[in-house]
Amino acid sequence: MDDSLRAIDVSVVFSGLRALDGVSLSVAPGEILGLIGPNGSGKTTLVNAITGQVPMAAGRILCGAEDLTGFSPRKVSLRGIARSFQVVRLFNNLTVAENVEAAALAHGNGRRGSRDKARMLLAEFGLEARAEDLAIGLSYGDKRRVEIARALAADPKYLLLDEPAAGMNEAETGELLSILEELPRARGLSLLIIDHDMGLIMRLCGRLHVLASGRTIAEGDKDSVRSNPVVIEAYLGTGAEAAHA
Ligand SMILES: Nc1ncnc2c1ncn2[C@@H]1O[C@H](COP(=O)(O)OP(=O)(O)OP(=O)(O)O)[C@@H](O)[C@H]1O
Ligand SMILES: [Mg+2]
Repeated sequence: MDDSLRAIDVSVVFSGLRALDGVSLSVAPGEILGLIGPNGSGKTTLVNAITGQVPMAAGRILCGAEDLTGFSPRKVSLRGIARSFQVVRLFNNLTVAENVEAAALAHGNGRRGSRDKARMLLAEFGLEARAEDLAIGLSYGDKRRVEIARALAADPKYLLLDEPAAGMNEAETGELLSILEELPRARGLSLLIIDHDMGLIMRLCGRLHVLASGRTIAEGDKDSVRSNPVVIEAYLGTGAEAAHA
């Protein structure tokens, strides 16, 4: 059976503004899909619609055979769909380890299991030395890594990352890339990644989905998308992504 995560004909309207207009996107098991497009094209809104953070005016969200349309963010996450946020959300006054443990606890792990899981994830993310530091004092790059570790503490089948490399320097982005590219194999999950760093996107993703003004303008393997004149016109050729590098 097709176990893909699918958004079908999704429209989202914010007080008259049509942020998404009939967008359909699917993420297949084990793949890394890149979601790209200019500022304000609807990328974050699409992730918010999938995870139940914004209401849809039309459309459906399916995970395999299950219809998740209208589910709360909590119910979506319990179905194995985790996300990170464009603006990092951590418990500033908890330690790094406590932040990850809290996420594991919230997903039904026991105390000891949560502690073990947090320790394992911090090691995987090279954050062991920071484990007892308060989240508030971390560098931006470390905060983003903690956020991804928190998302993984839920053992998701699908991980949706909203600009995980934003604000990272080149070395941090390189480290992030090597962690992310292993995730499908190491954890059997699928990744949807939004980013304006085209170097990262092109190295990581097999397939790309491109939005502009709330509509899909292209989707397919990265080489066909990269050379698509419509995509170059709307995004890649505009220098929009370079402005974020
Ligand atoms: N909560 C909201 N209320 C009103 N308008 C919103 C809200 N969220 C997003 N929008 C609008 O919806 C449109 C799509 O925004 P969205 O944040 O999804 O774009 P994006 O592709 O993620 O852009 P960026 O690359 O800058 O993150 C924009 O016009 C934005 O101003
Ligand atoms: Mg966004």
